[in-house]
Amino acid sequence: IVATSLCHTDLYHLYEGMPKDGFPVVLGHEATGIVESVGSEVTEFKNGDKVMPVFFTQCRECHFCKSPKTNHCVKAWMCTIDFRFSCKGKKILQLGGLGTLAEYTVVRQINLAKIHPDAPLDKVCLIGCAIGTGYGSAVNIAQVEEGSTCAVFGLGAVGLAAVMGCKAAGAKRIIAVDTNPEKFEKAKIFGATDFVNPKDHSKPIHDILVEMTEGGVDFSLECVGNASVVVSSYKECQLHFKQKAHKLAAGEYGPAYGLVHSAPVSNRQKSSSLATETKRKCQQSPSVSL
Ligand SMILES: NC(=O)c1ccc[n+]([C@@H]2O[C@H](COP(=O)([O-])OP(=O)(O)OC[C@H]3O[C@@H](n4cnc5c(N)ncnc54)[C@H](O)[C@@H]3O)[C@@H](O)[C@H]2O)c1
Ligand SMILES: [Zn+2]
Ligand SMILES: [Zn+2]
Repeated sequence: IVATSLCHTDLYHLYEGMPKDGFPVVLGHEATGIVESVGSEVTEFKNGDKVMPVFFTQCRECHFCKSPKTNHCVKAWMCTIDFRFSCKGKKILQLGGLGTLAEYTVVRQINLAKIHPDAPLDKVCLIGCAIGTGYGSAVNIAQVEEGSTCAVFGLGAVGLAAVMGCKAAGAKRIIAVDTNPEKFEKAKIFGATDFVNPKDHSKPIHDILVEMTEGGVDFSLECVGNASVVVSSYKECQLHFKQKAHKLAAGEYGPAYGLVHSAPVSNRQKSSSLATETKRKCQQSPSVSL
């Protein structure tokens, strides 16, 4: 492993989610490295290849890999070797099957992508999670349209990449929302046009955004990973988008048109309960019948 950046999902695993069977663990999943050796059945990589580990396997054979609608390969959840590291006889897990906060790791070949030999490994590691998630949410999942108005909640690496995706898709107005105002300067560089700190307002944030946009935004991207923020981002969508947003947000992982949440996907149950909570709160919303 040459470089690993820190994603909030690592912190989530460590301090917030704390799955019962999730420790001891080598954290880290947003990385780049160089292949040091390969197993006998590895066909696609050789020593010296520059590579990026990927959280979501790509077997290229299952129905999800072949579908243009998702990248949730079924083999992501079917890891037969659930540990490859041990210490004093005790098994040690790898976050996302990767565990890149280490000098060396061992991964399946479907968890690896070859990258350009000239790629600067210390920079492109961000593509392994945050950029793919944020940029992809805007461009591929929400399919942000030219001339639209977008809101992006949370301006960490995922949110900044979502801002970048909204800009690339031609959004005319990108409202960046964060409780930490120090994030606004960076967001501006990435293309945000308006900045809102929920702490500066006594009204709920969705009311502020509805007022700012005379009726609601076209696309709302939640990049905090907080169920209440998901509900807020749903509420400030324009009324005619809400039904569609809800339908999709209540799916197990919830990436939606008009509403994209970025709950840690490593934990199915959490993600699913986030979706359930979103659904429950959405059903309480008087503004739309579901
Ligand atoms: N679905 C995926 O594949 C995927 C991938 C990466 C990250 N994630 C998840 O996405 C989320 C963001 O990850 P990150 O690494 O960018 O996190 P981060 O901690 O770097 O950034 C989060 C930002 O949200 C802001 N924030 C916190 N509470 C807020 C609120 N109530 N309203 C507005 N802003 C608020 C923080 O100030 C911070 O700037 C995390 O939950 C992470 O687990 C999901
Ligand atoms: Zn991540
Ligand atoms: Zn697959």
